[in-house]
Amino acid sequence: MRVKKKLADALGDALDADVGPEDIEIPEEEEHGDFAFPVMGVAEGNPRQEAEEAVEPLEEREMVEKVEVAGPGYLNFFLDRERFAEVITELLEQESMGVVQRDGKLLLEFSSPNVAKPMHVGHFRNNAIGDALQRIFRFVGYDVTSENYLGDWGTQYGKLVYAFKEYGSEEEFEKEPMEHMFDLYVKFHEEAEEDEELEEKGREWAQRIEDGEEEAADLWERFREESIEYHMKDYGRMGIDFDRITGESTVVEGAEDLLEEGVEKGAIKEDPDGSLSIEFDELPDVVVKKADGTTLYLSRDLANLEKRKEKEGFDYNLYVVGSEQELHFRQVFQAGDRLGINTEGCEHISYGLLDLPEGGMSSREGRIIRLSDLLDRSVEKAEEKLKEEDKDLDVAEAVGIGAAKYANLKVSRNKKITFDWKKVLSFEGDSGPYLQYSNTRAKSILNKSDKEGDMVGELKDDEYRLLKELSRFPEVVENTAEQREPAKLANYLSHLSEEFNSFYHSCRVIGAENGEIERRRLKLVELFREVTDRGLKLLGIEPLDEM
Ligand code: ARG
Repeated sequence: MRVKKKLADALGDALDADVGPEDIEIPEEEEHGDFAFPVMGVAEGNPRQEAEEAVEPLEEREMVEKVEVAGPGYLNFFLDRERFAEVITELLEQESMGVVQRDGKLLLEFSSPNVAKPMHVGHFRNNAIGDALQRIFRFVGYDVTSENYLGDWGTQYGKLVYAFKEYGSEEEFEKEPMEHMFDLYVKFHEEAEEDEELEEKGREWAQRIEDGEEEAADLWERFREESIEYHMKDYGRMGIDFDRITGESTVVEGAEDLLEEGVEKGAIKEDPDGSLSIEFDELPDVVVKKADGTTLYLSRDLANLEKRKEKEGFDYNLYVVGSEQELHFRQVFQAGDRLGINTEGCEHISYGLLDLPEGGMSSREGRIIRLSDLLDRSVEKAEEKLKEEDKDLDVAEAVGIGAAKYANLKVSRNKKITFDWKKVLSFEGDSGPYLQYSNTRAKSILNKSDKEGDMVGELKDDEYRLLKELSRFPEVVENTAEQREPAKLANYLSHLSEEFNSFYHSCRVIGAENGEIERRRLKLVELFREVTDRGLKLLGIEPLDEM
């Protein structure tokens, strides 16, 4: 059982109150003990007095060395270090590393780029957050399915088919399909500025795709396939796997059926021009089918929601999508309720955009920083840095990409990040390379020693500080999962690495004062290695053997 839980139970008994592990605090100042509890929150009478009375029974508890009353009614706990260390070691050495396991079928959608366009830096942030979450959700025990729901339907693909027929080149498409599609996209929008009829042409071709007309459908299919192949290279470099790749095109039919039922039920309103819409009380109304009979982005999301919740039986249906779609998802979920779909466990995991210092970006004008450029730049910078430090260049890819991921993950997902190469690629302090380096430092200590680590004897202050930080790992992972916030884990690992480095500087490990101390310190180093190996993997950052 976890330490906080044990203390909470002991407090519950001693104070005859409801105390949960989340009520236990970790004091900032060491002289206030290892853990603290404010009796003020539960006291019926004088909290200070109730605290005094609880001291004796609490001190009889296992692992509790001493209890002090402070301030208006704080109980400060000092633990039996030796026993605490034993308990934590045992916990962290379990396969779950002490993380309380959850269950439930969880669908996590992330990335979901549009086809026929390269991913840009914004997708980098999405991918980093989404992949970290899929790893973390698996580790806390959920039965996870990750889905990449491609934007592969709508008028824009009619436009592309038109542009390909009008300005395209089979040869260029074969050579570099993504470049060519992207050029055509930009070209179409340039031409459309001059010629209003082009929009109409695009719609016509979209209709042909929708009707399954051979030429249109074949081209669309090729665009889609080539896009997936192109995106796969970016995912490969980022170390990301999806359990399934779907797309808006896979739910078009479902959307039509769903809308029909909705009309029958009276949940959807037919407008005089033949379009369909849903009216809300507090949100702007939405059109779910256009007058020409085509479905919309939102209606396809509704069909997908129904599929995941009703047909596939997911308990959780989570979407990692930028904050600019917050209203969209509120409308999707409310529309789902209206249509009688069970929307429990549906959640938009929103994140702030990753911006360029020179302002927004427009793919219409071809002005985007591609995800692959970001990866290249990061790796280049990593190479430069590794050269400077006289280190092996083999790890440059892992270090560069890890650096870019960490820079994104350490910031709470709701915050906007203004893109800044210098910060992303900083190798000092709170950074990906710093974490990777601290982790390899532990490995090299362990490699140099021929002794086995063992958690024995009373921990000295510097050792105890590291152990306490290590002991927070399971709780941090749980909170990270609960709040869908990889920044929690990222910041924790950074803090832990700092603690490890100061331990390393103040405590001699190999050749310590005596054999017992040496074995105990080796064990601490081992635990640090385990926690950071696991933690980095959970963030999608590669732990290295050496650096
Ligand atoms: N393809 C969309 C875009 O690039 C994002 C899709 C988000 N997911 C969803 N289920 N609507 O903006």
